[in-house]
Amino acid sequence: MQSTVIAPSILSANFAKLGEEVDNVLKAGADWVHFDVMDNHYVPNLTIGPMVCEALRKHGVTAPIDVHLMVEPVDRIVPDFAKAGATMISFHPEASAHVHRTIQLIRSHGCQAGLVLNPATPVDVLDWVIDDLDMVLLMSVNPGFGGQSFIPSALEKLRRVRRMIDATGKPIRLEIDGGVKADNIAEIAAAGADTFVAGSAIFNASDYADVIARMKDAVAQVRG
Ligand code: DX5
Ligand code: ZN
Repeated sequence: MQSTVIAPSILSANFAKLGEEVDNVLKAGADWVHFDVMDNHYVPNLTIGPMVCEALRKHGVTAPIDVHLMVEPVDRIVPDFAKAGATMISFHPEASAHVHRTIQLIRSHGCQAGLVLNPATPVDVLDWVIDDLDMVLLMSVNPGFGGQSFIPSALEKLRRVRRMIDATGKPIRLEIDGGVKADNIAEIAAAGADTFVAGSAIFNASDYADVIARMKDAVAQVRG
């Protein structure tokens, strides 16, 4: 089982002082920076691109940057994010005509590759590519916005994908994204997630360290 990772989604940060927000959340105990890229085409919202990723690296951020691409097409932008300092790059299979090729492209640029499953996307999309992945990301909300409620069917999906990952014997992470809070993270961990994205739960709190510590404690109770 992979170590526990808390990855705050900067979608809910104050963009007017993004560098400071990222510094503060990392100082507060966050492990990764979750970086949501939306294009007003694949999803109905528009956010940030490689220039902002590069700016965070230049600002001095050394933590892993977990780029979640909600863009179509995918391949054109992959090299730009690799160059901008992305650690992992995850994408939605519906947004790529050649899923296996996109995974190879991400890895050929020295990044780790993740595949993201929307709430209605069947898990069998993983069947022929799981061995090539560093991470599976399950959406527990429909992508596009922060602050939505966790969709309960994601728990059963986590259990299924956890079994698939364990069957590979490979160190593939299982990440969950959407509606993760301090009070539901334990059942999400129990269902098999090891990597937890949380946007509004962290950035809307007055004390980042307090909420991250409560999340980590809750996960530790379950995972030991
Ligand atoms: C949604 C994004 C999420 C979002 C999560 O499309 O992928 O990363 O920021 O926000 P919360 O934790 O508020 O549901
Ligand atoms: Zn995300």
